[in-house]
Amino acid sequence: MKKIVIAIDGYSACGKSSTAKQVAAQLNYAYIDTGAMYRAVTYYFLQHFINPTNPRGVEDALKKIGIEFHYNAKTGANETYLNGLNVEKEIRGMAVSERVSEVSALPRVRHCMVELQRKMGKKKGLVMDGRDIGTTVFPDAELKIFMTADFDERAARRQRELLDKNQLVALEAIRDNLAKRDRIDTTRAESPLRKAEDAYVIDTTHTTMDEQVNMILHMAREIINQEEFQNKG
Ligand code: DC
Repeated sequence: MKKIVIAIDGYSACGKSSTAKQVAAQLNYAYIDTGAMYRAVTYYFLQHFINPTNPRGVEDALKKIGIEFHYNAKTGANETYLNGLNVEKEIRGMAVSERVSEVSALPRVRHCMVELQRKMGKKKGLVMDGRDIGTTVFPDAELKIFMTADFDERAARRQRELLDKNQLVALEAIRDNLAKRDRIDTTRAESPLRKAEDAYVIDTTHTTMDEQVNMILHMAREIINQEEFQNKG
């Protein structure tokens, strides 16, 4: 069966990662959460007091950062490891969320992560989610999705997500964080968040997770069948 690359980009908290994970599982594809990679770099910067405005410090830190994903059979999910340590919990907290857009706007950080993402995605049969996957990391991806949702719905979802992890954060703080990240992510000079011209938009404000997943699976299977047909012809 022909394997393809599926790029899923979009704003924070509109269901990208959960959707991407399920699409990958259904197709038996690998899944890579690139947001987790920028979060791991940010966590390292916080832990080691790296000032993002000091290019030398950033350069040195990047040389010392190793990021990997390992499957956890208990949770059924890929978890993020920074220099051999599982940091899945640490990278999802507000301390990292507060700084991640600033760190991920740095060109050196982006070049380093994009290179790593391309290496990780060398083999096809991949679902990757982020902000610049369809535009920069894999501009030739066979299927590109751009996910969006109403701002208030995104904030409410993020609050529920954090609550599930026993973190109670005020809605106002979440709204401020999302608004700040949207602004930095869409206006940064280096590969800002934007819809690739050939991406399909999915607004998840009123769709269920199953509906989102099925929409993408439907598109993916059409493309896979088409490519199989062309290869036979
Ligand atoms: O998907 P997320 O909310 O975990 O991503 C965290 C931050 O990482 C997001 O605010 C912007 C940055 N990011 C990025 O710049 N490029 C990507 N491909 C993925 C995430």
